[in-house]
Order: sequence, then C-alpha cells, then structure tokens
Amino acid sequence: MVVKLTQKEQMLLQDLKSHEEWCIKKYTEAQNRASDPALKQTFGELLSHERQHLETVNQILAGNVPSMNQSSQNAQTGQNSNTLWGGPAKGQNPTSATKAVQSDIDLCQDLLNNEKYVSSVYDTVIFECEQKEIRDALNHIQKEEQQHGEKLFKYMKQHGGYNVQ
Ligand SMILES: [Fe+2]
Ligand SMILES: [Fe+2]
Repeated sequence: MVVKLTQKEQMLLQDLKSHEEWCIKKYTEAQNRASDPALKQTFGELLSHERQHLETVNQILAGNVPSMNQSSQNAQTGQNSNTLWGGPAKGQNPTSATKAVQSDIDLCQDLLNNEKYVSSVYDTVIFECEQKEIRDALNHIQKEEQQHGEKLFKYMKQHGGYNVQ
C-alpha cells in the first residue's frame, strides 16, 4: 500500500533507519568476534533480521508500507520459528550447555542493552504514527526486537551469564 508520510513520520523513520544500520554494524562485529560457533550462528540469524528491518523501514520511507497479512512477511518473522526462537541453535545440545567465555557473555549483554533501547524507540515512534498500516509494520519489527532480546537472554542464562534470582 502506498502512503504519504507526515513530516514527523519521516523524521522518526529516519531515526529508525539509523538505529537499524547501527544494529547491522553491531551484529556484524559480534558475529566476527564471538568464540562460540553456536553464538556466531545466532548472531548471523539476528543480523539477517536487522537487514530485513532496514529494508522495511526504507520501504516505508519510500511510501510503500508492506501489508502484514502478506505471506512475504513470513520471512521477517523467521521462517522456522522452532529453530530460531524455540531453543538452542542447530547441533547444540541443551543439556551440554557450558559456561561461556566472558567475552561472549559481554557481547550478549551489550546487544541485549541495545535491543532494549531500540525496542523502546519503536514504541515511541509507533505512538506518533497516523496510519494504522505503518503502526502495524513497526509493531511487527518491535516484536522481533523483543524476540532478539529473548534469544540473547536465553543464551546468557543457559551459559551462566545471566543471574536470575
Ligand atoms: Fe532491528
Ligand atoms: Fe534487533
């Protein structure tokens, strides 16, 4: 669907664009630096999501709001949610989870903080959008940012890096 953005929406979407670009940079660096191969793979998955987010934000900025009912959007939710969100990465036995190296935990903590921040920015922007279609598209992305946070949280918890009392 084609929309005309208000000036405010344009400014806010530009902010989101720069945040998504930053996320791509951070996950690219994290993927290179991670020691645990399973974590590397996870970062790679999240990186591809961030690229999709940027593409969606760019589409909206160009006046094309993707419909959340189209099957093409399934790619954004993670094509197979079982392997993506449901547990350890492929080939990783959940019972064999060992304590991660501190540098990997630090990477996760930094990215988790970033996801919390980005999710809060989406929340703010969603409240300022006039059109439902834009709200729906951004809401979809925000949910994925929360899922990224969950993925990072789970990894940290499984590997002794998140203290839940
Ligand atoms: Fe994102
Ligand atoms: Fe994210």
